[in-house]
Amino acid sequence: MITLKSPKEIEAMRGAGRIARLVLEEVGRRIQPGMTTADVDAFAAECIRKHGAKSAFLGYRKYPCHICISVNDEVVHGLAGDRRVEFGDIVSLDVGVYHNGFVGDTAKTVAVGGCSLEAQRLMDVTEKSLAEGIAQARAGNQVVDISRAVQRCVESHGFSVVREFVGHGVGRSVHEEPQVPNFVDKKPSPKLRAGMTIAIEPMVNAGKPQVEMLNDGWTVVTKDGGLSAHFEHTVLITESEPEILTCAQKIATGSKPE
Ligand code: MF3
Ligand code: CO
Ligand code: CO
Repeated sequence: MITLKSPKEIEAMRGAGRIARLVLEEVGRRIQPGMTTADVDAFAAECIRKHGAKSAFLGYRKYPCHICISVNDEVVHGLAGDRRVEFGDIVSLDVGVYHNGFVGDTAKTVAVGGCSLEAQRLMDVTEKSLAEGIAQARAGNQVVDISRAVQRCVESHGFSVVREFVGHGVGRSVHEEPQVPNFVDKKPSPKLRAGMTIAIEPMVNAGKPQVEMLNDGWTVVTKDGGLSAHFEHTVLITESEPEILTCAQKIATGSKPE
């Protein structure tokens, strides 16, 4: 069942989304060559606590970390540990928090210090594909309209979308209906309606789309060893424009830039 959120619930989702994004940006700014991924996770835990929220991932299906940290060929669900990130690595950071009973879920890939042109292009295209997907997140469209926009953007730039993991409804739980794939499939696709809140999250590989799981039971890596990037926003479907709930900054209604 796809739940529609009431205005009150949407207000709570805005709060959770904002905190998730603030944490993501703080962690993204802090990450430096030489830090271990455990250092990064500990810093994230501190940020989440500081904002009065809780990790939505820690303990979820026994996931052992506060945020997901996935380096280079790691696609998603990397585990924090004693690996040190190096100059030139790209790191996908995925933050999910609970606040006032609701979840904000957002991700981005950042370079550590700097990166190759190809890595930057992969990150740019992945972020662009997220924007294209969000633009289709409108009442009256179907979920597959989002999927198609993401896939087109990614493949037109010569990259590939991961099939095994998908975006999702989000609200009181991290994962709700519907599934939001980053590719077109033949399954019936639900209609988007105002009040739905969904996480759109393209996972994009520089090479082939295939992935495999490491023996730790969590870390997903590209089969061909190529780089992977991941960007995600929690989005509200409205009667008009989609609203990105995982924005750190919101301009108060009526205010104007100076
Ligand atoms: N990263 C996933 C998402 O955005 C959720 C992670 S679940 C966890 O939907 F258990 F791995 F943390
Ligand atoms: Co996420
Ligand atoms: Co998600």
